[in-house]
Amino acid sequence: WVLMVTARTPTNIAVIKYWGKRDETLILPINDSISVTLDPSHLCTTTTVSVSPSFDQDRMWLNGKEISLQGGRFQSCLREIRARAQDVEDKKKGVCIKKEDWQKLHLHIASYNNFPTAAGLASSAAGLACLVFSLAKLMNLKEDNSQLSAIARQGSGSACRSLYGGFVKWDMGKEDNGSDSLAIQLADEKHWDELVIIIAVVSARQKETSSTSGMRDTVETSALIQHRAKEVVPKRIVQMEKAIQNRDFPSFARLACTDSNQFHAVCLDTYPPIFYMNDTSHRIISCVEKWNRAEGTPQVAYTFDAGPNAVMIARNRKTAALLLQRLLYNFPPESDTNLDSYIIGDKSI
Ligand code: DP6
Repeated sequence: WVLMVTARTPTNIAVIKYWGKRDETLILPINDSISVTLDPSHLCTTTTVSVSPSFDQDRMWLNGKEISLQGGRFQSCLREIRARAQDVEDKKKGVCIKKEDWQKLHLHIASYNNFPTAAGLASSAAGLACLVFSLAKLMNLKEDNSQLSAIARQGSGSACRSLYGGFVKWDMGKEDNGSDSLAIQLADEKHWDELVIIIAVVSARQKETSSTSGMRDTVETSALIQHRAKEVVPKRIVQMEKAIQNRDFPSFARLACTDSNQFHAVCLDTYPPIFYMNDTSHRIISCVEKWNRAEGTPQVAYTFDAGPNAVMIARNRKTAALLLQRLLYNFPPESDTNLDSYIIGDKSI
């Protein structure tokens, strides 16, 4: 017999960024962060997990290619889930698994991303969240999504925020064991549904510096990071929560853009410096800033993660259509600086 569970998890984009850990093993951050979870039809990971007595080892395939499961992070997630596994009974198949059996049974995991892996589009977030969620269903865990987020966090920090839709806060927590470092939903997907997300894929190439090593170097060498974590972010978190509750787009846009810019500033302040954005990213920022200034009030927010791709959040569908026109005008398809593609999230949030 084989038992199987398939789950689909969208990626999330931080509007107040997580950058820097206080514990590298448990993945505990130095500040809170806030993200929006995308509509699952656009950027998501689909994972099928299966268990059978005929499997002789744990194996995993990512986009059809087998990958190693030796990494400590994957093993910690698996250990945490197996420790909480419950009895599972499938009468139709005549299967009865006792909770202690999960320690001996092996798993096969197949995962697909419908977007470029590791190009700074938060693929690890969707991937680890989906893995934890599907394994939790397979093994019949009793934990709620917030408790599962603390397990996903140990796979990749940003993954903990993908356990919920809408707007999500990752509370950094205070405990050394990480028990209070988990995700909470600030508002569901219906709360602010006129927002539209447009992602301009500046480059689908794999990023040069991974988030993990980049943030480690920042914490070790940047003189600005502690000021950001202790003074700047705590205030922005309060302001961002308020902007989201009130659907206050000007405040939301201002906070998201300045926080993205500060994150890239601390990357530049890292030694050796980290450059995630390129000339095209900078031109996109100028284009949006110019437009926002001309309108007198922000129409679009932008944010960039650990890569050159631009995530833009338009205040409504009309603005999103105008934004696309502007991008196509400024980055014509046949020019040197054309963008690889656009991903448009219709009513993404
Ligand atoms: C820039 O979650 O990928 O996207 O915890 O080491 O796996 P690890 O890092 P990761 O870092 C994401 C950083 C970011 C900002 C964010 O998503 O908040």
